[in-house]
Amino acid sequence: MTKSIIKNFNTLKGQVIVPADKSISHRAIIFSSLAKGKSIIKNFSDGQDPRSTLNLFKELGVDIDLRNDSTVIINSNGILLPPTEELDCGNSGTTMRLTSGVLARQEFESVLVGDQSLSKRPMKRIIEPLTLMGADISATENYTAPLTIKGQKLHGIEYYNKNASAQVKSCILLAGLDAEGKTTITEPYLSRNHTEIMLQHMGANIKVNGCCVEIEKSELSPIDIEICGDISSAAYFIAAALTIPNSDIILKNVGLNPTRTGILDILNKMGADIKILDKKQICSEEVGTLEIKYSHLNGCEISGEIIPRLIDEIPIIAVIATQANGTTLIKDAQDLRAKESDRITTVVTELKKLGADIKETPDGMIINGGKQLIGNCEVETYHDHRLAMSLYVAGLICQKEISINHFEWVNISFPTFEELFESIKV
Ligand code: S3P
Repeated sequence: MTKSIIKNFNTLKGQVIVPADKSISHRAIIFSSLAKGKSIIKNFSDGQDPRSTLNLFKELGVDIDLRNDSTVIINSNGILLPPTEELDCGNSGTTMRLTSGVLARQEFESVLVGDQSLSKRPMKRIIEPLTLMGADISATENYTAPLTIKGQKLHGIEYYNKNASAQVKSCILLAGLDAEGKTTITEPYLSRNHTEIMLQHMGANIKVNGCCVEIEKSELSPIDIEICGDISSAAYFIAAALTIPNSDIILKNVGLNPTRTGILDILNKMGADIKILDKKQICSEEVGTLEIKYSHLNGCEISGEIIPRLIDEIPIIAVIATQANGTTLIKDAQDLRAKESDRITTVVTELKKLGADIKETPDGMIINGGKQLIGNCEVETYHDHRLAMSLYVAGLICQKEISINHFEWVNISFPTFEELFESIKV
């Protein structure tokens, strides 16, 4: 589907209830499937990625009922059954990497497959530690999917992952849940910690000490959880309100887990007018309401420990940076090249087409901001939902119309994206 974007409104005003967090939705399905008893998951994400996880665990014999009101009821005896077919992870790296940690310790063989984009993404990062734990996994010679996993008895390891990654950490912890002895995973910087929070909530034998997490064999209790809104989805509304003159919007139910709020810290440094109006905890996750007003922004440097805390927001931060005065330098973000697309190359290529002054570096990009984007061109989405949404926001600040090819990739994480944007255009 090609989407034409033109600024046919004055400004953004009003309120948006941010849809459910994708990362937490995946984890809620996986962990509840492993728990004995009935779990209730309210406000489950309607994105295709979490749906891939849900369907996959159904294939593994778990009784999962997704209701019309976005509640999921899971009745499990904690035992998975051998699948009758290949397990399809779709476009979702989280599905493939987290599920591998579970399948590595089952008494059966399974094969994980993905779409064209996922089939190119690196799996060595999980194959290596799982193999050290005793797993039997074969992949292509480039360590990509399909992954054939012959379930084995596993043993604990002490693992240092030099590139902070919540997917790798979660995969190892899921394997460690049923391995002999202790499993520890340490990272240089803290990556998102939804796995640790939920496993603690479900009674797992897990200890967190800074960037080190330790887990031992555990039985999980079922959960009754309400999933908060996704700050990674909120980011597009934040970006649009900050860059479209006179905007003033309220975002409700935004997940504010500190391992995810790097974007707010950076925007604060750039001079953004963002207020947190209230904050509370829901199921051990912080949630709040944000008010965002149009702001004059300055460029800044984004590097080091903050990168894992805003990794998925870099494409939209690049769009914001085109409107900030001065230079924004993004460094230490080489893992962007291993996302749904090579997000360094794809973001730079597409924003350049719109008239941005942006350059690619091996581990990030340099953006000279403060220039009006022109548009008047077609842009591509490269099977990447975050690129589709970032280009939509860029389209709203362009002088002329743009056409986004294959805009349907937005459905991977945020099917109601456009509808919600329409509701605040005045
Ligand atoms: C995710 C972790 C991040 C992120 C991805 C979701 C998760 O990946 O980019 O969109 O839910 O654990 P990495 O762990 O590979 O950085």
